[in-house]
Amino acid sequence: MTIHSFRDGWVLETHMTGYALGVDAAGLLLHRYWGARLPFTDDYAPVQSTVGWASFNGPSQLLREEFPAYGDYKTVNPCLKVTFADGVRDVVLRFESAQVTGETLTITLKDDHYPVRVLLTYTVHAVTDMIERRATVINDGDSPVSIERLFSAQWHLPYGDQYRLTHVTGRWNDEMHLRRELLVQGIKVLDSRRLTTSHHHNPWFAVDRGAADEDSGEVWFGVLAWSGNWAIQAEVDEFVSTRVNIGINDWDFALRLAAGESFESPATLAGYTRDGFGAASRHLHDHIRDTVIPHGHDLHKVLYNSWEATTFNVDEESQAVLAEIAAGMGIELFVMDDGWFHGRNHDHAGLGDWWADATKFPNGLNPLIARVNALGMAFGLWLEPEMVNPDSDLYRAHPDWVIHFPTRARTEARNQLILNFARPDVQDYLIALLDRLLTDHHIAFIKWDMNRNVSQPGWQTDDHDPREIWVRYVEGLYRVWGTLRARHPQVIWQSCSGGGGRADLAILRHADQIWVSDNTDAAARILIQDGYSHIFPANTMEAWVTDTHAAQLPLRFRFHVSMCGSLGIGGHLLHWSAADRALAAEQIALYKDIRPLVQLGDQYRLRSPQNDGFSAVQYVAKDQSAGVLFAFRTHMAFPAEVPPVILRGLDPTARYQIEGIDAVRSGAAWMADGLRVRLEDFESTVRRITRV
Ligand code: DGJ
Repeated sequence: MTIHSFRDGWVLETHMTGYALGVDAAGLLLHRYWGARLPFTDDYAPVQSTVGWASFNGPSQLLREEFPAYGDYKTVNPCLKVTFADGVRDVVLRFESAQVTGETLTITLKDDHYPVRVLLTYTVHAVTDMIERRATVINDGDSPVSIERLFSAQWHLPYGDQYRLTHVTGRWNDEMHLRRELLVQGIKVLDSRRLTTSHHHNPWFAVDRGAADEDSGEVWFGVLAWSGNWAIQAEVDEFVSTRVNIGINDWDFALRLAAGESFESPATLAGYTRDGFGAASRHLHDHIRDTVIPHGHDLHKVLYNSWEATTFNVDEESQAVLAEIAAGMGIELFVMDDGWFHGRNHDHAGLGDWWADATKFPNGLNPLIARVNALGMAFGLWLEPEMVNPDSDLYRAHPDWVIHFPTRARTEARNQLILNFARPDVQDYLIALLDRLLTDHHIAFIKWDMNRNVSQPGWQTDDHDPREIWVRYVEGLYRVWGTLRARHPQVIWQSCSGGGGRADLAILRHADQIWVSDNTDAAARILIQDGYSHIFPANTMEAWVTDTHAAQLPLRFRFHVSMCGSLGIGGHLLHWSAADRALAAEQIALYKDIRPLVQLGDQYRLRSPQNDGFSAVQYVAKDQSAGVLFAFRTHMAFPAEVPPVILRGLDPTARYQIEGIDAVRSGAAWMADGLRVRLEDFESTVRRITRV
């Protein structure tokens, strides 16, 4: 039993975590506790009432409501803001009922006066130690209501401490840099206003008291499962009460709820650990693999992607030549990227016309696919379904299908406009077209790209508030992708948005993988991959070996960096020497051997690349029978020495052999004393760890 009704509320328990909430005498739903699981249900403190502080801080200002609405005498950052049909902008939510169904607690709150209900659901994921929350607003009245903010949840941190926020930030070609900063009175906002999750921030937070590290210390962390505009607002109020609001961004936002309509927010998931940032990541990794990704426990194939080799200049022969070399190196999946479809000779034309270009592929794609399959490889294809070039048959037929304001110029970026996926006719068109493509061809993999931010976010609609475009677009995206996925369940999908512009737990319900960055410089990738690993497991992280800075970075080093995720090769194989190809074949064989550990094991960040030029990461089988260690030296100034590598995650009482070291020692010894590796600048090593 993971949900207990007790005294004045409920206790939710995962293996390690307790979370308690309750109702006060006035019927307000209050937060009681979030932290380590306690031995007895009555260990969790009862709801606290308050008489307020001064006329400037009435009681409702001091209460820690689970889902505060904007209304009554309070100014805390609310989760819900509504304007009713009569112009009233004040919501007072009181407890109406609660229901426990399996692992889900649903609490119904109701406004004091207006026929509006809010359903808060709390789902306990006991095994992965996560709690999932959503909020649903229901308009039971006869008049429409306008929702101006609807966050998924407010997560309260234990009262009275000062906290540090960890998050990731970046930009195109430079994603996922880890940042840590103290939270002080005020609101720290992270968000996206770009229609997608964005390269700039990610809807993930981790909060600690300033002393947690990789292996120890309390960390509270959470995510939002949403691929559109989102916001995280970490507020410290004047009483040093810290709370994190998370949900759909309310910037340029409104939802019109007609009589009888409802809207469910996206899910937010959060967890707590005493074992530092490493454990927080592993909880998320397990959760994502076990419950989010469609093929979460299938091993990903080693792929070749021809983009950096042939860019738009693809045809059957150019791809077949690359495919033959790829197959000879042990590659299992050949992906043809951009450039294959009607009129696509450069980035000025073609997007929207998703059929094979008749000049490049006079007999269609099937002859190439057959040749790739005959080489023993599966075949994959690149798409950018949400986009259209003005120079395309689709745009000429439907210029009104793009996101635009009729009186404004349509700003192009990369010479393209965004199809309005909020429109059901646009969704239906894409579903039919892409369904045909997938039905008529033997396609095992789709890379779904999205290469610009939004501008002029207009939508000519009578059925919705036009500002709903931010939400309805994302719902439309999920409908198109979800329908295709359901009709073609064998396809592995990758989410790409010019690299890591769309990486989140909602897109991972559709996509099995993320293309993390267009930056394929291996030295830069170490940092990007480290940031990414704080949220997402390695099997979702597609990582190519390319020719970027090949003169400075040895091929083996480039391979080792990419082998920390789902290995891909993106270099121009015709330019690779026989020795390069032989080394590639050897590294691919090694990767296939360690792939179950990397993709499905527990990840331990042993030494962060954020701090210096030496980093190490380890993956351990769930049963601790084996592991693999990667260590990288980028640049360390003379006379710096590579420090010892202290292993993690092994069974302390078992004995392990580490490849290249002539000694068998206990897990305890490797985790206390570690090992030394000798590396020069831009050298790396991969060591298999075997229990003997
Ligand atoms: C952006 C992606 O990130 C690249 O890998 C490549 O697919 C290009 N788009 C193709 O236009």
